[in-house]
Amino acid sequence: MGTATARANANIAFIKYWGNRDDRLRLPANPSISMNLGGLFAETTVRWEEDLTADSFGLNGKEDTGAGLTRVVAHLDVLRRRLDIAQFARVESRNNFPTGAGIASSAAAFAALTVAGAAAAGAQLSERELTTIARLGSGSASRSVPTGFVEWYAADAHEESYAESFGTPNTWDIVDVIAVVSKAHKPVGSSAGHQSANTSDLQTARVAGAEERLRQCKQAILNHDFAAFADVVEHDSNLMHAVMMTSRPPLFYWLPPTLMIMDSVRQWRADGLRVCYTLDAGPNVHCICVREDAAVVSERLRASSEVLDVLIAPPGDGAQVLTVSIP
Ligand code: DP6
Repeated sequence: MGTATARANANIAFIKYWGNRDDRLRLPANPSISMNLGGLFAETTVRWEEDLTADSFGLNGKEDTGAGLTRVVAHLDVLRRRLDIAQFARVESRNNFPTGAGIASSAAAFAALTVAGAAAAGAQLSERELTTIARLGSGSASRSVPTGFVEWYAADAHEESYAESFGTPNTWDIVDVIAVVSKAHKPVGSSAGHQSANTSDLQTARVAGAEERLRQCKQAILNHDFAAFADVVEHDSNLMHAVMMTSRPPLFYWLPPTLMIMDSVRQWRADGLRVCYTLDAGPNVHCICVREDAAVVSERLRASSEVLDVLIAPPGDGAQVLTVSIP
C-alpha cells in the first residue's frame, strides 16, 4: 500500500442540496448543481501502512482526535470495504480557506480524501464511482470530484446518486466573490441540518420544485443568461433558508451583515451590475457575478466595515491526484 496526495476545490451550489431521502447513505431529497471554486481547495495526503495500529488525522497542522477524526475513520472504513484494504491510514489535510463558515469545507475535504485514498491504494476507480464514494463522506463532496459546473443526481440507490460535469471551467466566465462576515464555526453543522429539513412544512414544496429550478438554472448557465440565472439562484437560496428558519428547532444562519449585503446585491443588480447572491449553511454571502463586474463588486464589499475579508474564485477544476507513490 502506498501514499497519495490529492487536491479538490470547494464548490458553491446554485440549486441547493438540503435534506436527505436516506441520511446514512446521503441520498439527497433533490438533485443539485454547483460550480467548483478555483483556488479554494483542500489538499489531502493518505498513507496506508501496515505498521499503523489506528487511523489518525491532522487538519491544518493540528492533530484532530474528536468529531473530525470519527468522520474521517468512517470514510476510511468505506474505502477499506470497497478496496479490500486491511490497513490503517495516516491522513493529513490542509484547507487554504476558513473552515466552517459557509464555504463548504467538507466538500473539498471528502472529495480530496476519496481521491487520495483510492490512489494510495493503487485503485483505478471511475470518476462516477469516486463521486458516489465522496458522497458518503459529505453529500456536496460528490460535486467537487468532476470539473467545472456539476450536477448531482438524486436517486434511491447508492450507485445511481452520482455527480457529473455539464460544463468545463470555460463554459461561462462567472466568478464567486465571497463576502466573509464571520470566520466562526457554524453552531449547527449541515449534517444535523439535513436531518431536520423535514420538520419544516416548506421542505415538501421546496423539493417539489427543485427539478424545474435546476433545469432553468442549467439552461441559464449554458445560454449565459445572467438575468434568468440570478432569478432562479436567489430564489433557490431563499427557499432553502426559508426551510432552515421554519425547521424545529429553527436554524438561522444569517447575521445582520448577511441581510445587509443581500439587499445591496439586489440594489446593485437593479442599477445594472450583473451580480446575484447565494448562501450556504453559514452567514457568508457568495456574490456570483460576470467576470467584468467582479472588481467593482469586490471593491464595494471591501468598503463595508462589516466585511472581514473578500475571497474571489473563478470556475475550478475537478479533484486531482498530485502525487502517488506505491512501493
Ligand atoms: C447548504 O454536503 O455539507 O451547502 O452531506 O451532511 O456533509 P453533509 O452536508 P453538506 O451540505 C451542504 C449543504 C449546502 C447546500 C449545498 O452545498 O448544496
